[in-house]
Parts: sequence; structure tokens; C-alpha cells
Amino acid sequence: PQEPVRRWVPQASEAGGGRRVGTAVTVIVPTFNERDNVAELVERTAAALRGRDAEILFVDDSSDDTADEVARVAADAPVPVRVIHRTDNTGGLGGAVVVGLAAAGSDICIVMDGDLQHPPELLPALLDRFAEGGADVVAASRYVGGGDTSGLGTAVRFGVSRAATWLTRAMFPIRLARSTDPMTGFFLVDRRRLDVASLRPQGFKILLEILARTDLRIAEIPMEFAERRHGTSKASLRQGVTFVAHLARLRFGKMSLFAMIGVIGAVANIGIMWLLVALGVPYIWAAIIGAEVTIVGNFILQERFVFADMRTDARGLGLRFATSFTFNNVEAAVRIPVMALMVESWHISSVLATGLTLVVAFFARFLFHSLVVYAP
Ligand code: GDD
Ligand code: MN
Repeated sequence: PQEPVRRWVPQASEAGGGRRVGTAVTVIVPTFNERDNVAELVERTAAALRGRDAEILFVDDSSDDTADEVARVAADAPVPVRVIHRTDNTGGLGGAVVVGLAAAGSDICIVMDGDLQHPPELLPALLDRFAEGGADVVAASRYVGGGDTSGLGTAVRFGVSRAATWLTRAMFPIRLARSTDPMTGFFLVDRRRLDVASLRPQGFKILLEILARTDLRIAEIPMEFAERRHGTSKASLRQGVTFVAHLARLRFGKMSLFAMIGVIGAVANIGIMWLLVALGVPYIWAAIIGAEVTIVGNFILQERFVFADMRTDARGLGLRFATSFTFNNVEAAVRIPVMALMVESWHISSVLATGLTLVVAFFARFLFHSLVVYAP
């Protein structure tokens, strides 16, 4: 995912082969159409970090001219400001942060939103808490003493945020025991304690990815989550679905998510068949249409939620779909006669035979997709 198309680096920071030497902290700011927030963010960040060796690194996926605005502001900023502009948007917000962590000039990295909901004035407190020792991650939490969530806006968003936090902590009772706000996007991390290349974030929850996958020690400081300054939030229902998939994959692995989607597909398959038969379609045709729609639907979901991190250009979308589609049809065509054969020769019920073939088919499908369709 590391192919910055345009990379703007001020002259002074070219020393050491493009890597700043002796930088104390890199503030990583993921941006998606945040043009109007850039100037104020740079100004307040530089002011907060005055006297420290700091750089600001924007990782930008914008479709507007945010990257140009960063370059403009950088020209007379009191701290070095860089921007990596991506065009592929791999991994969304989380993917951008991973690119930032890999490219940061300093091992001490702070991730901060680009819309000023995370007050830059809190940066010294994060650094001071880290300097006290005993923590590899310092998070700014909305839910510890003195924290505040007024910037979340509506009661609905507040409720969703609390429920999601509760669910997440319940799923990782040990690793998140000391984290009141694993979904916060404002945190410091010591990159030396992290295998950046092994992170596979999906969507917004990059801190959750780090805490769930590693045994990094976390400390927290309270934060007042402010109102967004300009522009609009990129949170959406789609981000919500991505979050649930991310959680399932982190907790139970890819296979469980693959199975969950398989079950949803089976239910959809039966639903479609039932509907078509009710509309007067002959049941054989209803079965075929139901099966094909499910195969295509499953492919789309698996592609987006299960194997998103395994897609490569070497096997493009068309080829992935063709292999997956062919396999699933061959598998269905083989499974039914095999099932009939089992009933004939083993004298077991057709329901049991179907169940057994489906279990074998599930593993075969998962292996085929991980090893062939999304060949590493
Ligand atoms: N590079 C990049 N790519 N940046 C992105 C993308 C993306 O695909 N999507 C969003 N961003 C940037 C935004 O431009 C902003 O700087 C930051 O990520 C947060 O996005 P918002 O759109 O402001 O989302 P939010 O305020 O709803 O979410 C924040 O609060 C959540 C907790 O309520 C984030 O901090 C989340 O990480 C956090 O979980
Ligand atoms: Mn925001």
C-alpha cells in the first residue's frame, strides 16, 4: 500500500536519505477533504510543540486539493510539514495511518485527526505521559475523568459510540482492560514496539487494531472531543459495517467472518427461492437463481470484508471473480451428486448428507479462496 504518488518534502528534512534524523515526534494526520482545516491545524500544532523537535506528516486520500493546501501552508510553517498523497485509499483511514507510521521521521508518532476535533493543545500532555514511562501507547480518551464527548453531536451517535465501545471491550477483556476508549483516533505510539508491516487495519479503528494484535502497554489522558471545524464527517453506515467486520476478523479470524457471510448467504438463498416460488417461478429455476445470486453476493462481501487486505494487482477483480464464480458453481454441481451417492450407499438421511457435504464444502471454499483466488 506504500505508493505515494506525490511526496512533498521541505529541503531541510532531506538529510539522512529523506529521513529526518533526531526528530523527537512525528504528528501523523490522515486527511480526506480537510482543506479548510489545514492552516489552523498546522498553526496550533506548531504552537503546541514549540521548542520540541517535531514534524507534521499528512497522509492524504482527498479528492479535493487538500494536498496542495498542505504544500502551501508548509512553505512558511515553523515546523517541517510533509504530505503523502495516496490515490488508492487502501485500508481507508487506518491504511493511511499505517503508511504514515512507516514513513514517519521519528519513532515517537502521534496520530491526530485533521478536523481539529482532537485539540492539538493536548500534544504535550501525550508526550509528557509517555516520558513518564511504563507505556508504549498513550491514548487521549473521551471516557476518563475530565474527558468529554460533546463533539460527538447527537444523542444517537453518542449511544452508538458507547455501545460499540462496550461491545469491543467485552470482546477483548484482557487486551483492552486498561483502555476506556479503544476507538479514539488520537494517540501516541512508540513505533519501535510495533511491527508496522503486520498491521491490517480496515476503516477507522487503527488503535483497536494495534491494541488487539499486540501486547503494547497503554496509558490514557482525558480529552475533550471538540466540534469539527470545517467540512463534514466521513463516518457512515458503511464505516459501521466495516467496523463490525474488522472486529469479527480481529477476534475470530478470517475464517469466522467467511463463515458468517456464508450463513448470511444461505439465509438469503432460501429467502430468494421462497420469494420466486411464491411468484410462480418453477422451483428448479428458483433454486438456480437463488444459488447464483448468493454466489455473486457472497463474492462481493468476501472481497470487501474478508480478503480486502489480500487483493493484489497481479490478480485483478475480473480474474478473482471468474475463479471464485467457477469454483462455487463446480462445487455446487459436484456436491449434489456426491450427496445423493452418500444417501444411496451409506443409507443416511438426505439432511445429514447435505449437512456433511456443506461442512466439507465450507472448508474447501475457504482454502480455495485464501490460496487461489487471493493467492498470496
Ligand atoms: N487519509 C484518509 N483516508 N483520511 C481519512 C479517511 C480516509 O479514507 N477517512 C477519514 N479520514 C480522516 C478525516 O479527514 C479526519 O481527519 C479523520 O480521518 C477522522 O475522520 P472524520 O470524518 O472526522 O470521522 P469522525 O470524526 O467521525 O471519527 C473520529 O472519531 C471517532 C470516534 O468518534 C476518528 O478519530 C475515529 O478514528 C474515531 O474512532
Ligand atoms: Mn471528525
